[in-house]
Amino acid sequence: MSLQRMLKLHYVLVLVLCVSASEDFDWTKNERGSFYYGTFPTGFSWGAGGSAYQTEGAWDKDGKGMSIWDVFAHKKGKIFLNDTADHSCEGYYKFKDDITLMKDMKFNHYRFSISWPRIFPNGIKADHINEKGIKYYDDLINMLLDNNITPIVTLYHWDLPQVLQEKYGGWQNVSMVNYFNDFANLCFERFGDRVKYWVTFNNPWSSAVEGYETGEHAPGLKLRGTGAYKAAHHIIKAHAKVWHTYDTQWRSKQKGLVGISLLADWGEPVDITNQRDIEAAERYVQFYMGWFATPIFNGDYPQVMKDYIGRKSAQQGLGTSRLPVFSSQEKSYIKGTCDFLGIGHFTTRYITQKNYPSGRGNSYFTDRDLVELVDPRWPDPGSEWLYSVPWGFRRLLNFVKTQYGNPMIYVTENGVSEKVQRCTDLCDDWRMQYFKDYINEMLKALKDGVNVKGYTAWSLLDKFEWDEGFSERFGLFYVDFLNKNKPRYPKASVQYYKRIISSNGFPNQREVESWKRKATETCSSSNQLLAADPLTSHMEMVTEIVVPTVCTLCILLAAVFLMFLLRGRF
Ligand SMILES: *[C@@H]1O[C@H](CO)[C@@H](O)[C@H](O)[C@H]1NC(C)=O
Ligand SMILES: *[C@@H]1O[C@H](CO)[C@@H](O)[C@H](O)[C@H]1NC(C)=O
Repeated sequence: MSLQRMLKLHYVLVLVLCVSASEDFDWTKNERGSFYYGTFPTGFSWGAGGSAYQTEGAWDKDGKGMSIWDVFAHKKGKIFLNDTADHSCEGYYKFKDDITLMKDMKFNHYRFSISWPRIFPNGIKADHINEKGIKYYDDLINMLLDNNITPIVTLYHWDLPQVLQEKYGGWQNVSMVNYFNDFANLCFERFGDRVKYWVTFNNPWSSAVEGYETGEHAPGLKLRGTGAYKAAHHIIKAHAKVWHTYDTQWRSKQKGLVGISLLADWGEPVDITNQRDIEAAERYVQFYMGWFATPIFNGDYPQVMKDYIGRKSAQQGLGTSRLPVFSSQEKSYIKGTCDFLGIGHFTTRYITQKNYPSGRGNSYFTDRDLVELVDPRWPDPGSEWLYSVPWGFRRLLNFVKTQYGNPMIYVTENGVSEKVQRCTDLCDDWRMQYFKDYINEMLKALKDGVNVKGYTAWSLLDKFEWDEGFSERFGLFYVDFLNKNKPRYPKASVQYYKRIISSNGFPNQREVESWKRKATETCSSSNQLLAADPLTSHMEMVTEIVVPTVCTLCILLAAVFLMFLLRGRF
């Protein structure tokens, strides 16, 4: 995922809510607590995903150029423990093994991204096309199709060619629109006979805000109050251009769909009876998903963004709004450029109104005039920002339905990470619970009439989590990053998700209640596997410390120590 570090701890005031404040939101009337037994429509698509920089490794192999993430991660002090994704899961070499895993889980689709600098090492078509990079994706796509797995392909998952950043300022420069369109056009030309689901951008919110406003992500710029808006403006134009390119040049031949994947966390008013909180919560969602979705579906930025940023810019004495403006021609060009909407959803916040005086310190965050809160009772199993709030998912999906005319939706990311780095813990109880509850809320949303066509668990593998390095594990499969072979081990959630897929939902209480126990049985034997395997396969690597080995050693030491203790006693 998806690393929104937007959530700085100082933004989060922990809040104890009275139950009365958490009544149902307008358009979702059903009670929160009850589990819904039922199945998904026939043809509902199940899968998992990952992205190029996070999983491929091979960062400088076979003619690949550098991306902004290669450069950013190589700088010291940017990434947790100064890790990089130079090798990561070595997906570039191991995709055949991974497809075997997917096949075993009976996936209908797999979502991955194409690395722009692997295809155009210098970012630009006229410069050089890297056929070896094309061959890698050809092989991947062909093997997926041979196994009846539909590829869902993202064109931009944050790895802009470094050359374009250095020469032109990356997404600050409108010229990216044409460069990206050239890249997308080549992908349609070379892969479009086989790929029918295209995602132009993955979570552009992060590219814009974390790349150009907070600087926590590549390219690491801190252009507060302007950088994110400008980057997003160009990204939206680029998305629209690529959609039109497909529409005019490829659609009649290839008959595919082009969408975008937006990160969309839900915002719930703290006090549902307080109009200011209700407005603040809606503002939260509009500044988040609406920033991108409203132009693409309705032709222009959300009115509330235009109002707030415009007013604050004026108070700062600026002649024009820090939020760029689309011309009327651009508005009609951008409107309707989405065949399906990809939703990445992880968590929810309570929102309350808070005025930030406008001044020099203006930023995307203060422009919103709100505070994000969390309920301390929400389970918080993984990343610090990721609280499990399943009902927020259903509300978000219903919001999308009402705001954007019930578009076709693919859930392109949903999942949870691990906080505790226990060495051999493959029994990920909390992940099974998260999938169960979130997928169930999606099922309820379907019954509400939301047009969801597919679900992508995030993610297939543990992988490089951007500025968090390898410290957060989202995978269904555990990856031993310290072993140069990067072996994958199934967590219990693999078995659990497999049962959801094979039942196409939650058939009945008796069956569903047995799933967790059955899945947990398999993970205790996998744990032994994980503990035993490295002893042999790691012998060659004297210098590398292997986590499971260390654990085994710890246990041995403890046993010896205990022996001594006991001997002293008797
Ligand atoms: C990362 O690099 C910085 C700068 O060289 C250094 O100060 C820091 O200690 C490094 N962190 C780790 C965990 O190695
Ligand atoms: C934007 O990119 C173009 C090349 O396409 C370049 O000529 C121009 O100088 C760039 N502008 C800035 C501000 O970097």
